[in-house]
Amino acid sequence: MNANAAARTHLLRKYNVPGPRYTSYPTVPYWETTPTEAEWIAALGRSLEGSKGAAVYVHVPFCRSLCTYCGCNVRITRNRAIAQPYLETVLAEWKLYLDKLGVQRIPLSEIHLGGGTPTFLTPEEIRFLVEGLLAHADVTPDAEYSIEADPRVTDAGQLKVLGELGFRRLSLGIQDFDPRVQDIVNRVQSEEEVRVLTEQARELGFTSINYDLIYGLPLQTMNSVEQTLAAVGRLRPDRIAFYGYAHVPWIKPSQRRFTEDDLPQGDAKRALYERGRQILEDAGYREIGMDHFALETDSLWQAAGQGTLHRNFMGYTSSLVSPLFGLGVSAIGDAWSAFAQNEKIIEPYRERIEKGELPLLRGHVLDGEDLELRQHILNLMTRFHTHWDAPEQMPAYLQALPERLHELSADQLIRIGTGCTGTDLEVTDLGRAFIRNICMAFDARLARKAPDTKLFSQTV
Ligand SMILES: C[S@@+](CC[C@H](N)C(=O)[O-])C[C@H]1O[C@@H](n2cnc3c(N)ncnc32)[C@H](O)[C@@H]1O
Ligand code: SF4
Repeated sequence: MNANAAARTHLLRKYNVPGPRYTSYPTVPYWETTPTEAEWIAALGRSLEGSKGAAVYVHVPFCRSLCTYCGCNVRITRNRAIAQPYLETVLAEWKLYLDKLGVQRIPLSEIHLGGGTPTFLTPEEIRFLVEGLLAHADVTPDAEYSIEADPRVTDAGQLKVLGELGFRRLSLGIQDFDPRVQDIVNRVQSEEEVRVLTEQARELGFTSINYDLIYGLPLQTMNSVEQTLAAVGRLRPDRIAFYGYAHVPWIKPSQRRFTEDDLPQGDAKRALYERGRQILEDAGYREIGMDHFALETDSLWQAAGQGTLHRNFMGYTSSLVSPLFGLGVSAIGDAWSAFAQNEKIIEPYRERIEKGELPLLRGHVLDGEDLELRQHILNLMTRFHTHWDAPEQMPAYLQALPERLHELSADQLIRIGTGCTGTDLEVTDLGRAFIRNICMAFDARLARKAPDTKLFSQTV
């Protein structure tokens, strides 16, 4: 091992601690001031006032079988009859929002269908859902619709209806093409299956196709990751999410179905990402944020260049759209000054809507400090840079920031520049691998109260 590689391995070991992925700040385990229904509606109303158009996320929790690595909120079923009543409840929830906001229609810029597996739905059910949402919406001219699809349960019939409804973004769950890895995680799908779907989607007018890949899955090796990325290179999606496997078996016991000895960990796991990144960059992709890549022709690349990139519960988006309504079980809404998450189990979710209540389970009203720290963490996650004015204008927590950043700076993960316009923090190339650790320095809630039990996956 040369001196550089040894230094890097040392850093990977030093900073490999449990940490959040910062799809929100405060992170969900630290939410403490759940808004009342009236407060939540007021926050959404304020956000709508200054908004060109809102976003709606619909969570479809159903999957036909369980992938053992999965960290999402899913209901495994082969009972097709469960879908239609669920969609009716989701549309009743959407109508409840309109009634409580006292409006007939909502301006809409984005629809996202996620899960679980939205392509568990038949073409007719997809049409029923989307037309039901649109019946109460004024769609903005540049509106974008996207869907997450599992190639094993997606066909041309569903893609055709989605295309007719105006969907142009498709995200396919790939994870890995190695048959040994696919077998151990109970998710078998061929490159050919994915190639056919990708081509069909392009012919039907989808202009942005994303592949989800995971590094750190059981039995993955450098060679198997290279083979997977070679297949991805042949199919050339517009975007790639190359997620680090989040191993949280204390929350998701199905992750105990493989042995931890089969998992690449620590520096071995990070080496898989570094190799993947190199292959993707050689193929013309740019790393636009943590674990995400895009081709030059994709709006995420352009957003990264123009500084409009945003990050939310769904990952990276090309701009901030607010408010975000979350419909369906476990869906999270974001009104910028408050977050709220729905009931996670279908039965209580449905019962509360039938009683005319919003099915809120928990949430958080952001205070002044939260709002400021949220902006810094967003800046770091989307621009690898943030800026603050004179320390005395900052919340008390941030005044102690230089001390908290000292070690990151000494390890050359960040560069701090102070001038007459305030202080700039730049994440170095070396520091990109440690972006979660750098954001943790800004996480006042985590600093004040270390978790009693293990909550987060490892940062590396
Ligand atoms: C809801 S799933 C995608 C849609 C669809 N159900 C599928 O699997 O194709 C969203 C993505 O989350 C990622 N994911 C799920 N569990 C994960 C975990 N434990 N660690 C990292 N990524 C995970 C996978 O890449 C998956 O494609
Ligand atoms: S990865 Fe997708 S298909 Fe597999 S269990 Fe999770 S949500 Fe369902």
